[in-house]
Amino acid sequence: MMIEKFPHMLHGGDYNPDQWLDRPDILEKDIELMKKARVNCVSLAIFAWAALEPEEGVYRLEWLGKIIDSLYQAGIYTILATPSGAMPRWLTAKYEEVMMVGANRVRNLPGGRHNFCPTSPVMRKKLNALNARLAEAFSGHPGVILWHISNELGGNDTHGECHCPLCQQAFRDWLKKKYQTLDALNHAWWANFWSHTYTAWEQIESPAPHGENGIHGLNLDWKRFCTEQMMDFCEQEIRTVQKHGEKLPVTVNMMTFFKDLDYFKFAKLVDVISWDSYPNWHAQPDELKAATETAFMHDLMRSLKKAPFLLMESTPSITNWKPVNTQKRPGMHLLASLQAVAHGSNSVQYFQIRKGRGSFEKFHGALIGHQNTENQRTFREVTEVGTVLNQISDQIYPTVNQSEVAIVFDWENWWAVEDAKGPIVPMDYAGHVMKHYRPFWKMGISTDIINMDRELSGYRMVIAPMAYLLKERFAEQVREFVRRGGIFVTTYWSGVVDETDLCFMNGYPGLIADVLGISEEEIDAVQPHRENFVSYRGSSYRVGALRDIVHPVTAVSLAEYEADYYQGTPALTVNEFGEGKAYYVCSENEDAFFEAFYHDLADEEELAGNWPEELPQGVTVSKRSGEESYLFVQNFNEAEIPFNLPKEYCTITGETLSGTILLNPFECLILVEA
Ligand code: GLA
Ligand code: ZN
Repeated sequence: MMIEKFPHMLHGGDYNPDQWLDRPDILEKDIELMKKARVNCVSLAIFAWAALEPEEGVYRLEWLGKIIDSLYQAGIYTILATPSGAMPRWLTAKYEEVMMVGANRVRNLPGGRHNFCPTSPVMRKKLNALNARLAEAFSGHPGVILWHISNELGGNDTHGECHCPLCQQAFRDWLKKKYQTLDALNHAWWANFWSHTYTAWEQIESPAPHGENGIHGLNLDWKRFCTEQMMDFCEQEIRTVQKHGEKLPVTVNMMTFFKDLDYFKFAKLVDVISWDSYPNWHAQPDELKAATETAFMHDLMRSLKKAPFLLMESTPSITNWKPVNTQKRPGMHLLASLQAVAHGSNSVQYFQIRKGRGSFEKFHGALIGHQNTENQRTFREVTEVGTVLNQISDQIYPTVNQSEVAIVFDWENWWAVEDAKGPIVPMDYAGHVMKHYRPFWKMGISTDIINMDRELSGYRMVIAPMAYLLKERFAEQVREFVRRGGIFVTTYWSGVVDETDLCFMNGYPGLIADVLGISEEEIDAVQPHRENFVSYRGSSYRVGALRDIVHPVTAVSLAEYEADYYQGTPALTVNEFGEGKAYYVCSENEDAFFEAFYHDLADEEELAGNWPEELPQGVTVSKRSGEESYLFVQNFNEAEIPFNLPKEYCTITGETLSGTILLNPFECLILVEA
């Protein structure tokens, strides 16, 4: 069990009573309404530093204690935050060094959030003095179950990067430890390019728009350093709260496709993974894009620890920060909430329980709006989620998803491939990866999302799209994996550079060329008018902008280009290596190609799908297994869909179903697998 003090599906969200301390009537009403909405858990004190320490060294924790008590008496548990997400005025006014400095070397003015310097000793000292008191006062409370360290680290466009003198020095120290000598650093960075060879450590500066930004090795090391420095900041918060009072598990709330911090590294710091999900529902004529991107993120979060995670934030209705903030259509709230659960979440938490009266988020969706009543659609739909979570908690909580297929999504590769001045600028790494994810979602086949440092044994198929920065250990693992019978798929623009972003000198795809049985000649990038197609098993598929021209060495061609000077040359190859097979997809093709290709592979390799039949468009099935297995049939169509049950199924609430049924618009059905 990941949260020992309250091992149940959590339902609730961010609650900011510190905005209402002069309104006891509101605080009382909150608890009454939360109970009605089946809320059993809130996140407290995320932005409460000023209320907890109104003046330097003057601590006011009593109000928080009273609220934690009243909540607990009402059956509502607390996830307690450390308040570093936003700094109080007295701190930023008195100590300049706590404020982050941008890449342009300008120090931020007070205000905003997530904009502290992670290196600043003053910030660390002041914060931990408060953290220690919070831990002493509340970690032993029976209602306090988990630490929420800070908030969305690196968020709000600060990129988790501080370029202040303290951070510059920490970066130089980090580099000295890594490279030992300037010669080694200059070589790894190819720094003699444009005569930029470093002759003293003090000359090294973080990348800047008005300074050095063309050394890719520097840019890459800077991103690595920023992750580690933020982890260091986080670690000292964790150490403090765990040293004082009772030792509780910790989490940090992560974000969607957040490029700036390497979450695979961060995952090692925390006990529980959690994230904040705000999909663009209804932004397109169908929900495919939003549904698959969100599913991918849920799978990533589960894969970070190969364990259930928490949906820490989602909106009960709308956001207020998108250009257009569309209300979730009836049914979508329950579906989106259960989608998280289907992929491994043990909670549905919201931002926010009650809307503030003023300032930035006064129009953001909340359980309790300015109408101050339960008589609202949002309130009813949230209550429905609470009711369902109560019904399924005992059965679903101890289960988790299992996958035979892993898709590689690697932060260091992400940084490197999008920074490179390559065939296409800028490259959209996540977009390329999603092309490989969507077919599995459509087939209802579970996937884990891993990085290049993860173990491959245990999977039957590993897919590494655009593995541009090929890590040496990963290459070794791939070789072993295929030799022992694994199926490996990679693509164009893979095996190009090593871990310092220096190109492989014996051609691409570098260290795995022999596993793939090909050698790459050149890569073409074209504008849309240069149409081309690949023919694969009797059908033609449109080719996108990137086209690799390769020579099979031991591999055989499974598809060919139909036009241009590479007409007839391979567009897809397979190589038998040891007991396994390695595929190379040469070009970025339309989705229909990837659907056909992965469909064939799934058939040939007899991959287990979560549903025994082909799924209708817009419907997917996820599976969580424990002593029993549960199938989550999710209809992302805003329409009724006929759905065939090839045998008799029991719903999680004990109803028996068989034959062709109608799935309601946005319905999620939970079935017990016999
Ligand atoms: C983020 C933050 C919250 C809130 C929401 C609004 O997830 O963590 O504090 O600002 O966005 O969507
Ligand atoms: Zn700094």
